[in-house]
Amino acid sequence: MGGVTLLVVGASGFLGAEVCRQAVAAGQRVVGTYHSAAVGVAGVEPRRLDVTDRSTVRALLTEVRPDAVVATPYRYDDWTVTADGAAHVAYAAAEVGARLVHLSSDALHSGRLAPYLDDDVPTPIHAYGAAKAAAETAVRAIDPGAALVRTSLIVGEGSKQIQLCRDALAGRATLFTDELRCPIDVVDLAAAVLELVPSEYAGLLNVAGPDPVSRAELGLLVARRSGLDPAGLKTTTAVAAGVQRPTEVRLDSSRAAGLLRTRLRGVIELLAS
Ligand SMILES: NC(=O)c1ccc[n+]([C@@H]2O[C@H](COP(=O)([O-])OP(=O)(O)OC[C@H]3O[C@@H](n4cnc5c(N)ncnc54)[C@H](OP(=O)(O)O)[C@@H]3O)[C@@H](O)[C@H]2O)c1
Repeated sequence: MGGVTLLVVGASGFLGAEVCRQAVAAGQRVVGTYHSAAVGVAGVEPRRLDVTDRSTVRALLTEVRPDAVVATPYRYDDWTVTADGAAHVAYAAAEVGARLVHLSSDALHSGRLAPYLDDDVPTPIHAYGAAKAAAETAVRAIDPGAALVRTSLIVGEGSKQIQLCRDALAGRATLFTDELRCPIDVVDLAAAVLELVPSEYAGLLNVAGPDPVSRAELGLLVARRSGLDPAGLKTTTAVAAGVQRPTEVRLDSSRAAGLLRTRLRGVIELLAS
């Protein structure tokens, strides 16, 4: 990948920063965007960008002319960032002929007992899931050659998901026992994304860990790993809390496991060993 310019949109975010770290270490030129925070990775050329502003997205890509774009930005409660922003990035990337890897989410599924395959159509039940589904539709229509990575809870050093578990162990937050996910380590996910960049993979790909756990079980794993008292863990159910959220969402990542050199470690291996 020497001589390649990679644009990481959302380099100030958790996954974006790790993608930047690994790409810089591999000797790539990396331009990374931020919006309200800062890009904290050495060797990245930082640029401010608001993805809701279509013309500035086009202007940045026309100026940088990246070979590839990794698109991570989202705001949980802002459709214009998550859906419109994804469309703007895809349009601008296509305009300059850049390879696009777009980050999607398991949150666009409603939840069921059977695992979700890569090409299963979205069945969103909340606004965030609907925005991620709309983003996928826009990206695929604009650039059928793009890779769209559906992932699950991102764990690892600095993870918001792990912090939520710590908060629940301290009684400051509550974890659902009826919300199953397949967490993935940020290092594995970033490596998988960077493997997809020079590949010709087009379309949807599940990239998540092999171990389905509830958020409450994740909290117990964090307790054991960190030597915290599991008895302090506050739990409830989404049903009891009266919130509509996808319940059991298991991503079947066997296609990615067969395609990629990166091993997608499960959360049992990551936290219980
Ligand atoms: N975290 C998870 O557990 C999880 C699970 C499933 C899927 N995903 C998906 O994985 C991707 C990365 O997640 P993450 O946890 O790394 O996210 P994150 O840490 O919250 O980072 C989000 C990024 O989006 C940027 N952003 C927000 N509003 C923007 C705007 N108007 N214009 C440009 N950039 C903007 C943020 O910039 P500033 O911080 O500078 O404002 C930040 O760099 C997302 O697409 C998400 O949907 C995440």
